[in-house]
Amino acid sequence: MRTHRIALIPGDGIGGEVVPAAVRVLDRVAGRHGFALDHTAFDWSCERWTRTGRMMPADGLEQLAAFDSIFLGAVGHPDVADHVSLWGLLIPIRRTFQQYVNLRPVRLLRGLMSPLRDVGPDDIDFCVVRENNEGEYSEIGGRLYEGTDQEMAVQESIFTRRGVDRVMRYAFELARTRRGHVTSATKSNGIIHTMPFWDERFAAAAPAFPDVHTEQFHIDILAAHFVQRPGQFDVVVASNLFGDILSDLGPAVVGGLGVAAGGNINPERTHPSMFEPVHGSAPDIAGQGVANPIAAMWTASMMLEHLGEHEAAATVMTAVETVTADGTTLTPDLGGTASTDELTGAVLATLD
Ligand SMILES: NC(=O)c1ccc[n+]([C@@H]2O[C@H](COP(=O)([O-])OP(=O)(O)OC[C@H]3O[C@@H](n4cnc5c(N)ncnc54)[C@H](O)[C@@H]3O)[C@@H](O)[C@H]2O)c1
Repeated sequence: MRTHRIALIPGDGIGGEVVPAAVRVLDRVAGRHGFALDHTAFDWSCERWTRTGRMMPADGLEQLAAFDSIFLGAVGHPDVADHVSLWGLLIPIRRTFQQYVNLRPVRLLRGLMSPLRDVGPDDIDFCVVRENNEGEYSEIGGRLYEGTDQEMAVQESIFTRRGVDRVMRYAFELARTRRGHVTSATKSNGIIHTMPFWDERFAAAAPAFPDVHTEQFHIDILAAHFVQRPGQFDVVVASNLFGDILSDLGPAVVGGLGVAAGGNINPERTHPSMFEPVHGSAPDIAGQGVANPIAAMWTASMMLEHLGEHEAAATVMTAVETVTADGTTLTPDLGGTASTDELTGAVLATLD
């Protein structure tokens, strides 16, 4: 039997609630489609940082390298500075494993209400392709004259030709498998070095994909378009910061973070990819058993796609959408009263 080795990192807060829910669905679907998932759980989290001073052990990345995929819930705790969890776990994994694509699908699932008027399930279906290894999220910079009235902070953005070209290529190739349309998020009017460079590399990538239609917008008007006419988008390629923001805004127009899935992808498959819902650890609802597990389940479906289990991936989404279309077992973020367990049970019931 085909077996895929999965590293599970539930993390903090609702990560520990939605990951087990998604794993129940994954295991059920694996059984139905004739493969097995061999999962190993790691307690890497802010809770661990508080105990040991490290988010993960010194050889954490070596341990992960042996797996076919990584499935992460969320990290973050109100008592731990957010840059600790980000730079102590997520960013080292994304960078060491060259997960340079952060893929975030935005689709209105059947039965769910968009906060936008007159928008139905077929009207919104696009993907944000966020550059995930460089850009605005760099460690280069520093502070000078700290604590004085001359204090200053410098933060450098890093845009390399290799880094930009490879994420552009991924976006164009993805568009070819969809509706053949790529939109680039830019800000080359205000950011006068890196963003004109981004635009140049977008223009340089396009001729290799003559069948793909291209357009670009400055990030400010693009944010407005996400709200006013989200149906026009197919694949949106963006730098690390712009992509981060767009991929929260996108899900907001289709039901919120509870249904926002994501993958940190190493397209060349030289390292494991890491799949994680867009949402964080949601301390405001953690421990209440009401977190929406759909984002984690959709993320699990993306992982199955990446592992080549296409039919199983589709089965997960059909099951989730059967439950959303039915509408009687939804969590509070979607206007329902169901618990995480009840929604998970409803999804599992469609798989019986
Ligand atoms: N990838 C990650 O691990 C990740 C991503 C974002 C934030 N964080 C961390 O998470 C912590 C909280 O951050 P935040 O509050 O900005 O973002 P968040 O995504 O945790 O929560 C934002 C809001 O959305 C709600 N929400 C999120 N996921 C939900 C779900 N599955 N079901 C129902 N409601 C849900 C929360 O209750 C909250 O009101 C911080 O420490 C932050 O650094 C981690």
